[in-house]
Amino acid sequence: MVFLNRFFASVYLALIYASTANAIVQSPHQQQSTHRTRHIGSRGFKVEAYHPETTFQTFGTGLDQPASLVPQTLSEESVSFVKSRLGVDASNVSFKSGYSTPSTKVAYVKQAHNGVPFANAVANVAWKGNKVVSFGSSFVKSKKIAPSTPTIPVEAAVTAAEAALEGKYNNHPASLEYLARPDGSVSLTHVVQIQNEQAGTWYEAFVDAHSGDVLTVTDFVSDATYNVLPIEKETLPEGQEVRVDPHDLLSSPLAWHDDGTTKTTTTAGNNVIAYKGTQANVTSQSGADLAFNYTYNDNVAPTEGQNVDAARTNAFYAINTVHDFTYRYGFNEAAFNFQTNNFGKGGKGNDRVLMSVQDSGGTNNANFATPADGQSGTCRMYVWTYTPVRRDGSLENDIIVHEMTHGVTNRMTGGGTGRCLQTTEAGGMGEGWSDALAEWTQHKSSAVQDFVLGHYVTNNPKGIRTRPYSTNATTNPLRYSSIAALNEVHNIGEVWANMLHNVYAALVAKHGWSENARTNPEGTEGNIVYLHLFLDALALQPCNPTFVAARDAWIQADINRYNGENVCLIWKAFASRGLGVNAAKYVDDSSVPPACA
Ligand SMILES: *[C@@H]1O[C@H](CO)[C@@H](O)[C@H](O)[C@H]1NC(C)=O
Ligand SMILES: *[C@@H]1O[C@H](CO)[C@@H](O)[C@H](O)[C@H]1NC(C)=O
Ligand SMILES: *[C@@H]1O[C@H](CO)[C@@H](O)[C@H](O)[C@H]1NC(C)=O
Ligand SMILES: *[C@@H]1O[C@H](CO)[C@@H](O)[C@H](O)[C@H]1NC(C)=O
Ligand SMILES: [Zn+2]
Repeated sequence: MVFLNRFFASVYLALIYASTANAIVQSPHQQQSTHRTRHIGSRGFKVEAYHPETTFQTFGTGLDQPASLVPQTLSEESVSFVKSRLGVDASNVSFKSGYSTPSTKVAYVKQAHNGVPFANAVANVAWKGNKVVSFGSSFVKSKKIAPSTPTIPVEAAVTAAEAALEGKYNNHPASLEYLARPDGSVSLTHVVQIQNEQAGTWYEAFVDAHSGDVLTVTDFVSDATYNVLPIEKETLPEGQEVRVDPHDLLSSPLAWHDDGTTKTTTTAGNNVIAYKGTQANVTSQSGADLAFNYTYNDNVAPTEGQNVDAARTNAFYAINTVHDFTYRYGFNEAAFNFQTNNFGKGGKGNDRVLMSVQDSGGTNNANFATPADGQSGTCRMYVWTYTPVRRDGSLENDIIVHEMTHGVTNRMTGGGTGRCLQTTEAGGMGEGWSDALAEWTQHKSSAVQDFVLGHYVTNNPKGIRTRPYSTNATTNPLRYSSIAALNEVHNIGEVWANMLHNVYAALVAKHGWSENARTNPEGTEGNIVYLHLFLDALALQPCNPTFVAARDAWIQADINRYNGENVCLIWKAFASRGLGVNAAKYVDDSSVPPACA
């Protein structure tokens, strides 16, 4: 187990495992089966999605069909059936798709008018042998159908949709479709896809092809909202914000509340469960559709009001966020990450992070225990007692990221055993990587400022380390030789974290800085290069690495990924802090290879 700081000396308590209550709560709503209201974007654009009522019938062993209908193509057969069943013209039924399995055959059709298909009036038929066994339909009868030739061009529809949905047209081909409306009329619409990469939104907009109004949307992303301290903010006073769908579907394909077996509406999911006391004690959504809107009030105790819920929500959000962005850079299933369901992608599952907020085992600290892949990592966040009203580490993101990084480094070094950062020197670097990744999340531009960890919970601008991380050797004079006089892991970690701060600064000075680094590992900017080398090197370095071995792993990682483009830059940054070519046994050396001199 690795603690956040060096003052902790309490006894490790065995965790009590309790079963988790994961009910899917459905709130009653009269129009639940046909309507859904959505508020979109920062201007609160409101749309009322409407889906005509669906009828569904099953027919046991099946309905015989007139011999004249058999055999035909699936398309002909389904159109004929729907036509006779609903008493409509064949021209009103447009075949969409279908397929056969050994036991059944299914077909999906749409209503049509003048050759234009309906988006939300559809039907589906299933057969067993030659008999129809089920039929579902949301076809509509309407006397008020808009003319089938648009009077608004598709370009104008795109402009209207981009403005309403605060995103950009993604160039997916637009289509012309009818849309049945709640008042019984039928509108003609241009259907265009609008995305906002940064906000993570992706909509299909239905824009009236005669009026230009955005009538409704399909939301391709299931929306979850969390009132949290965004990961790029360090401490609570910077302010909670509502984040919509912050999950990265590439890293968490079922988002954050579904492990493929169980869907929850709580702070329990595939990557982490955030709880207090026992694992049954999670936070439930505050409103429908995975809304977690709890505001932390630090004028009252961490245990009061909505504070426990706000803490569990932020901890859940922050651990998931680290899961998602480190996944993009290589901490995935095969690389021994923490997930209940590994989706068949390698590694061992059943090991999501257990995140205990306001843990009763201590104060003024936090820790993370990393057993081997296949067993959950456990993070304990404590309450801090330095202020009259106590403060909660779960509302200081640098502390959460520091802790979760212990899981990353302990798993990625030496192949997922959790046994490979055990020497004082390697454990010291463990603390260093954790501070360095916490710092990485906090950069907001290419200006590399000094970084201080843990200043909110301690109410001390100097935070919990002895010095800020800095490129300035007066502000932070730590060098490789400093560790000769140190034997405490956090103190040793400061030396390593400050070297990495210098590597980071050099990479950003050379390659610039990307604000999309967490979701775009393909970029060439310095903060992206840095995180790649950070994770790549973990997998290369030996079990219980020394500073020298860890440095060599960074250099090899750069040769592997970037053909050595940054090798001299990395050498110079390490050498500037005494970890040059001939550094050994805690004696500084500031030389670099001849090719870099
Ligand atoms: C069926 O199609 C015809 C011709 O396309 C059209 O006049 C009629 O309104 C359609 N009926 C429905 C219910 O869409
Ligand atoms: C469960 O959480 C509530 C707040 O939601 C808290 O008051 C209570 O102490 C917790 N129970 C345990 C056993 O820690
Ligand atoms: C969250 O709750 C606050 C009141 O506690 C409310 O003012 C705010 O509108 C809510 N935000 C969302 C997104 O529901
Ligand atoms: C380094 O920090 C010292 C002390 O804070 C300051 O006086 C000095 O100007 C700084 N040097 C640079 C190059 O910024
Ligand atoms: Zn630590």
